[in-house]
Amino acid sequence: MKIVLIGFMGTGKSSLGKLLARKLNFTFIDTDALIEERQGRSISAIFATDGEPFFRQLERELAGELALIQEAVISTGGGFPLNPENIQVLRQDGFIVALTATPEVIYQRIKNETHRPLLAQTDPLNRIATLLKTRAAVYQNSDLTLDTTHRTLEAMAAEVMAEVRNRGVRDGKDQA
Ligand code: S3P
Repeated sequence: MKIVLIGFMGTGKSSLGKLLARKLNFTFIDTDALIEERQGRSISAIFATDGEPFFRQLERELAGELALIQEAVISTGGGFPLNPENIQVLRQDGFIVALTATPEVIYQRIKNETHRPLLAQTDPLNRIATLLKTRAAVYQNSDLTLDTTHRTLEAMAAEVMAEVRNRGVRDGKDQA
């Protein structure tokens, strides 16, 4: 099985994913990092040179590949679930966890970062609020939703693992 983290930029998918992978002894995969590694360039460079549709196509191809991976925690880029097929293929033996936060909290978390092309704008807070509205339904397509605003990574990891066990999904330790 695998755990798939979806959610807007700045909701903490990578941080939670790394912690979960460590606790479960699963492989950690970050779709943005994998795409950057394979392309040999940053996401910003991909967007600037080849455009967003090309990046979405890379995500689409990666989703098909990751469908086959077992015992992994996959942290996805914020726009990864915009194509419902990306989630559909990972859901077959995957537990989908959506992370949420308000636009203000997201803005505070990302305001000093520069690597996200979609937020490289004069009014990023406004952009975040607009994008969140248009994507609300996309992030609801999950098995569990966690509001990350006031919660520690440890607490969220514990909840995800409890849910996974409750639903009878085996984790790495059961298979020793
Ligand atoms: C994007 C989110 C980014 C990255 C790209 C596009 C989006 O990932 O995939 O900049 O469309 O929301 P993070 O959510 O890891 O920042």
